[in-house]
Amino acid sequence: MTDTTSAGAAATAVAPGGKALLEVDDVTLKFGGLTALNGVSFEIREGEILGLIGPNGAGKTTCFNVMTGVYQPTSGQVRFEGEPLTGRKRHKITRLGIARTFQNIRLFRTMTVKENVMVGADARHKTSVLGALFRLPLHRREEHEGSQLAQELLDFVGVKVDADELAGNLSYGDQRRLEIARAMATKPRLLCLDEPAAGFNPSEKQRLMELIRKVRDQGYTVLLIEHDMKLVMGVTDRIVVLEFGKKIAEGTPEEIRNNPAVVAAYLGVETDEVGEAVEHGGTDAIDAVVSGDAADVVDHHHHNEEEGTDAS
Ligand SMILES: Nc1ncnc2c1ncn2[C@@H]1O[C@H](COP(=O)(O)OP(=O)(O)OP(=O)(O)O)[C@@H](O)[C@H]1O
Ligand SMILES: [Mg+2]
Repeated sequence: MTDTTSAGAAATAVAPGGKALLEVDDVTLKFGGLTALNGVSFEIREGEILGLIGPNGAGKTTCFNVMTGVYQPTSGQVRFEGEPLTGRKRHKITRLGIARTFQNIRLFRTMTVKENVMVGADARHKTSVLGALFRLPLHRREEHEGSQLAQELLDFVGVKVDADELAGNLSYGDQRRLEIARAMATKPRLLCLDEPAAGFNPSEKQRLMELIRKVRDQGYTVLLIEHDMKLVMGVTDRIVVLEFGKKIAEGTPEEIRNNPAVVAAYLGVETDEVGEAVEHGGTDAIDAVVSGDAADVVDHHHHNEEEGTDAS
């Protein structure tokens, strides 16, 4: 379809990992008349950072929800280490090794920072609610280990406040990082982050990018939903692009950057208009897309359209 591989391939690092850890296989998900995912297939390879991008409403979060058992696909299936997740409950999927954070922060604001992380660790524990009530030895040991693990994870993600502080008192950035710590406390193989840098300033984004790399270097596989193209391009090994519930592209950051269908999706135009749109918007259009100011580009393009201006 495109011939963007020849120029970019030589400079592109080989994506790590070979074996598929998770496979999304021809997944369709319908909400009544709306097809949120339409025959989507891709794989997440062991040890890689895979970006999942696309305009608002493209189906990215829905994809997470299907992978974590929130929704069952209308057709198709998701497999984790070759095992179909069909019909599995959310806690079972957590135990298999898939953890996630949420686009809208979900913390227990009136619980402490440490307790919030330990909720994640609890998803792994063997003791029952009864064990907790009667404070059986195994439970006490797990509680102690959980507390230690919580502090280690807080240090790891860079939350520097007292672990006994209430989560609701944390800064917005620390709340986002706390969510990552909580997800990591389930000891996942695959960590799925849904817009972890939403609302961050450039320096916070830079720090987050470093954290995501550090997470991967610890042996985790990472799936990242992120609107900031600069962040996505800088941190991922491969990228899958959704638009209106369909996969429209897949490749290395370099391939995605130069893919006309992707540029068109972000500009809000047809693929065959990309050349024209780029001419009208100049290289500013692509730069803005790549630097994450896609909304500006769409405005810019529409502005040009309305005024019928011509850059040349
Ligand atoms: N529970 C639901 N019931 C009905 N429609 C839904 C539901 N969840 C999502 N949708 C619809 O499915 C489509 C995909 O939504 P989704 O949240 O996956 O998009 P997204 O790519 O994550 O977008 P954003 O970048 O805005 O977060 C949208 O049209 C959305 O309105
Ligand atoms: Mg979303």
